[in-house]
Amino acid sequence: MKCIWFVLLVEVMSVVDSHRPLTNGGSYEVSLFSTKAKSIAEVIYMMCLPKVPDYVHATARPSNPSLPHKFNVTILEIKKLSFIVEIERVDQATGWDRMPITVDWFSYIGNGLVYQNLILWFPDATNRTTMNRNTASKYCIDNGGRLVDIVDKAMYDVVYNYCRQSIVFGSDGYVRIWLGSSYNPATDTVTQSNGKPGYHGD
Ligand SMILES: *[C@@H]1O[C@H](CO)[C@@H](O)[C@H](O)[C@H]1NC(C)=O
Ligand SMILES: *[C@@H]1O[C@H](CO)[C@@H](O)[C@H](O)[C@H]1NC(C)=O
Repeated sequence: MKCIWFVLLVEVMSVVDSHRPLTNGGSYEVSLFSTKAKSIAEVIYMMCLPKVPDYVHATARPSNPSLPHKFNVTILEIKKLSFIVEIERVDQATGWDRMPITVDWFSYIGNGLVYQNLILWFPDATNRTTMNRNTASKYCIDNGGRLVDIVDKAMYDVVYNYCRQSIVFGSDGYVRIWLGSSYNPATDTVTQSNGKPGYHGD
């Protein structure tokens, strides 16, 4: 059985030439206080990237794990040496005293396709390693995404065409792709990973 998988990420990206995405990640500590629930910080990659990443995902936590603070992170700007984030305290709608906050980040540079607010992305469209669904799902999560759910016909067409263009078919006329949705043959229903009905074909 041949399997190709793809991941889906939430952010905007531009298309570059490379077929093989370059992934990087790291942690960076900022010393930050805020009088309001939201604050801005700059996170430095602390490594050399060949170009501005197409996508950055980041989370933030108090460096001292015994502190109760919880933060949401929004990426405001992606630059060559750093990226700018908005850090919002979400356990309470208040500011916080100065403390070290660790930002864990992940970036990639590679080919993808934007559909609405999603990025469809094959980590490697030439790699035909056979994977079971759990391995494929874990691979996506490890790369900052998840297996894609196809919501309707319009999205199916976009995903299908992206697959046709991206996959290197070689001598095989077909590929198998893992999706986030599941199919129940007994009830003939497709369910997305969020529990809602999925696209079932026309
Ligand atoms: C923080 O992020 C979580 C997960 O994305 C979301 O459910 C929640 O609404 C966010 N909180 C705020 C205050 O934006
Ligand atoms: C294909 O992907 C698998 C799983 O990530 C990896 O172990 C393998 O080395 C890859 N093969 C090639 C030829 O890149």
